[in-house]
Amino acid sequence: MMNCILICLLCGLYGVLARDREQKGKYSVPVLDVKTRQLVLATNHTLVLGCRGRWELIWAFPSGLARDQVRVEESRCGRTKHHYCSRMTVSRSRAQHTGQFSCGYKHRPQKQTSVYVYVTDSQQPFVERPGMSPDVLYLKTGEQLVIPCPVTHPNVTTTLVKYPNDSLSPDQRNIIWNSTQGFTIRSPTLYYTGLFFCQTITDGVTHLSHKYYIHRPVSNIMAVYLNSSGPVQALKGNSLVLNCTAKGELNTRVSIIWDYPGKSNNVGSTTKRLVKHRLHMLFYSILTIPKLQRSDRGLYTCRVTSGENTKQEQVNVTVYDRPFIHLRPRHRSVLEVQAGQKSYRISPKLKAFPAPEVIWFKDGMVAAEQCSRYHMDGHSLVIRDVAEEDAGKYTVLVQIQEHGLYKNLTLTLVVNVSPQIGEKAVSLQDPGSVPRGIRRALHCTSHGVPPPHIQWLWHPCPSKGLPAAPRA
Ligand SMILES: *[C@@H]1O[C@H](CO)[C@@H](O)[C@H](O)[C@H]1NC(C)=O
Ligand SMILES: *[C@@H]1O[C@H](CO)[C@@H](O)[C@H](O)[C@H]1NC(C)=O
Ligand SMILES: *[C@@H]1O[C@H](CO)[C@@H](O)[C@H](O)[C@H]1NC(C)=O
Ligand SMILES: *[C@@H]1O[C@H](CO)[C@@H](O)[C@H](O)[C@H]1NC(C)=O
Ligand SMILES: *[C@@H]1O[C@H](CO)[C@@H](O)[C@H](O)[C@H]1NC(C)=O
Ligand SMILES: *[C@@H]1O[C@H](CO)[C@@H](O)[C@H](O)[C@H]1NC(C)=O
Ligand SMILES: *[C@@H]1O[C@H](CO)[C@@H](O)[C@H](O)[C@H]1NC(C)=O
Ligand SMILES: *[C@@H]1O[C@H](CO)[C@@H](O)[C@H](O)[C@H]1NC(C)=O
Repeated sequence: MMNCILICLLCGLYGVLARDREQKGKYSVPVLDVKTRQLVLATNHTLVLGCRGRWELIWAFPSGLARDQVRVEESRCGRTKHHYCSRMTVSRSRAQHTGQFSCGYKHRPQKQTSVYVYVTDSQQPFVERPGMSPDVLYLKTGEQLVIPCPVTHPNVTTTLVKYPNDSLSPDQRNIIWNSTQGFTIRSPTLYYTGLFFCQTITDGVTHLSHKYYIHRPVSNIMAVYLNSSGPVQALKGNSLVLNCTAKGELNTRVSIIWDYPGKSNNVGSTTKRLVKHRLHMLFYSILTIPKLQRSDRGLYTCRVTSGENTKQEQVNVTVYDRPFIHLRPRHRSVLEVQAGQKSYRISPKLKAFPAPEVIWFKDGMVAAEQCSRYHMDGHSLVIRDVAEEDAGKYTVLVQIQEHGLYKNLTLTLVVNVSPQIGEKAVSLQDPGSVPRGIRRALHCTSHGVPPPHIQWLWHPCPSKGLPAAPRA
């Protein structure tokens, strides 16, 4: 009855109110033709709202109202037709249309005026909207908890029920009831976990709202990894894929956020995955940058947040314009080593991208095949137990076949050998005693690199015998 009168009133009020406001000359926000902040309407009745403003207008409706259930008529109005008027009509109101109706400026929708409309239905005291809210609510310490169960009539009395049969009434201190929202628990304790719903009794019939499972999320992030321990190098035009893994306690919920140079231009996309293990959860977030540009180089950070907990990992990404090989001797191209040294490393300066293939040659033949004492370590060649025959020309060939890049460098190795006296190695032959006046030759054979030079020294004999004249 009363609702019917309201609707009729609206039409009459419309003109009066609009003129009234216009005279104030404000319209900083659009003006609705209803003065009250709420309207109560019966099911199947028609809802008409008018709105007026200085710029083009736009409406916002409760999510339970489909666009095609609303008719909007727009017109220019006012004495000089310099105002915008909009009139919206919902011809068959339903309980699920209950909610806030707003009229705002198209260019600045936050400049708006609202009215809350209840569409009463004694069969349906709770507003049920498809996809209105999730089934799981999260309880966070220090934050209030809202159990959504808006109702279709402002005066409905409800209780909050914890499954199976704990009934809680609003106390206006910790348990607050608001017909447009539902129950708010100001400081929820662990008691407020489990299955909850709202309940009301109308005409002796008990109605239950949507049921919610209230969960207290654990927020413990045990570790965060990126699938790249060191800096990442990539070629311009190629794609970059980074995989961030967070390990959390069971029941932990995390959010993974990437920060990277191209983020503001939305150059990347992420995909997420969750894997539940027996004792922990793994969360993956994979960031893909499809076509790397120079501007994509820099730090890539994966930030994992759960409750007040945050952990992050980062990696430095270098983007090269083209593949390259830089190869040159570390110091000089002639290297010297002493024979007998335990090991010797021939290590030119090499920078290349992408990872090249490296082959060492000695005097034109593959080094590793030539001698078992040669082996490669990274891109260096290591010689074990350096011997005289290791002297020669060493060539390193560096190639990136897929890009047709080849570079080579030849280094000369000189092996120094300390002088050796041949006779000493065989057996020291005491020349014995030589009769006076006899010519006797003494031999000394020596070898070394570089060739040694020989000097004879004479020591007087400590014995009685007379010394032999030294002859070279
Ligand atoms: C609303 O209209 C429908 C269709 O005409 C009808 O079935 C329903 O009973 C009406 N509801 C009320 C509360 O009048
Ligand atoms: C709600 O209750 C108040 C106070 O009892 C009453 O004045 C008001 O008319 C009721 N509203 C509706 C829509 O029935
Ligand atoms: C609530 O339920 C429990 C078990 O389901 C039962 O023992 C208890 O009597 C019930 N309490 C009320 C007030 O209904
Ligand atoms: C109910 O909540 C709405 C939205 O937050 C608020 O505007 C309104 O004032 C509240 N009503 C009461 C009675 O507190
Ligand atoms: C990281 O993982 C993704 C997906 O598994 C893979 O495509 C990418 O090559 C990896 N990146 C590095 C730098 O290992
Ligand atoms: C992401 O990396 C983890 C290891 O860090 C691996 O187990 C997982 O399979 C990767 N995910 C994808 C989609 O490649
Ligand atoms: C990232 O790598 C570039 C090139 O190697 C280097 O210049 C830069 O300092 C690095 N940045 C950080 C934060 O490590
Ligand atoms: C080394 O490079 C030169 C040109 O810089 C080339 O002529 C020569 O054939 C290359 N040697 C090998 C073994 O590839």
